[in-house]
Amino acid sequence: MFKSLDEIDCRGFRVLVRGDLNVPVRDGAVTDTTRLERMVSTLTELSKKGAKVVVLSHFGRPKGRTVPEMSLRPIADALSSVLGGRPVAFAGDCIGEPAATAVANLSEGSILLLENLRFHAGEEANDPGFVDALASNGDLFVNDGFSVSHRAHASTTGIASRLPAFAGRGMQAELEALALVLETPRKPVAALVGGAKVSSKLTVLGHLLERVDSLIIGGGMANTFLFALGTDIGASLCERDLADSAREIMAR
Ligand code: 3PG
Repeated sequence: MFKSLDEIDCRGFRVLVRGDLNVPVRDGAVTDTTRLERMVSTLTELSKKGAKVVVLSHFGRPKGRTVPEMSLRPIADALSSVLGGRPVAFAGDCIGEPAATAVANLSEGSILLLENLRFHAGEEANDPGFVDALASNGDLFVNDGFSVSHRAHASTTGIASRLPAFAGRGMQAELEALALVLETPRKPVAALVGGAKVSSKLTVLGHLLERVDSLIIGGGMANTFLFALGTDIGASLCERDLADSAREIMAR
């Protein structure tokens, strides 16, 4: 069970919203805004309800170091665009003085994006000190980052254990869609799974195999399965070390 935004009372409160702004960027421009658009309903609703909205996200895999090319700064403008021009402020760090000052300057209904969470090693390590530092800038937590919620990181499970937690509208839609096919399925059920990496989805694929009649693999990770079947996939993206896992999944 989860609490949705129907139950949130947030006027005047600082609401930390975990999104997934890990969008494809080429030459400084976002080439696919789908993930940004998915956040619009949650951000608009919280803003209209008078929250001080603080958006948290990772971008790429900087592994605990500040990598200027992986800054979320340009994403603030892209987010503002999909929000119909609603201003999105930016703070140059997700913890410490830059974040605290920017959050303190927020008025009811305004939106702030904090710098890449993964510039700090504590994010992926789910370090308690880092969780405290993040949580100190919020009163309530909203998770709207379904596509990163398979990770037990500081900004997903960590903060949820510190602050009253709610599912954002995008998260809610995903959970309701999953419940429809996994909890009360109308057989036969087929799952179509895409994405680049088998490695990050092994547990999910194993879970799905127990529940679906057909599992259809698409996206970049299909290459790993083709490779496991002996197909020449050339220089295409492939996790060659997962060939055994792919064969095991196909056998099941
Ligand atoms: C993704 O793009 O798959 C999500 O943002 C999660 O990113 P990650 O695989 O680097 O954790």
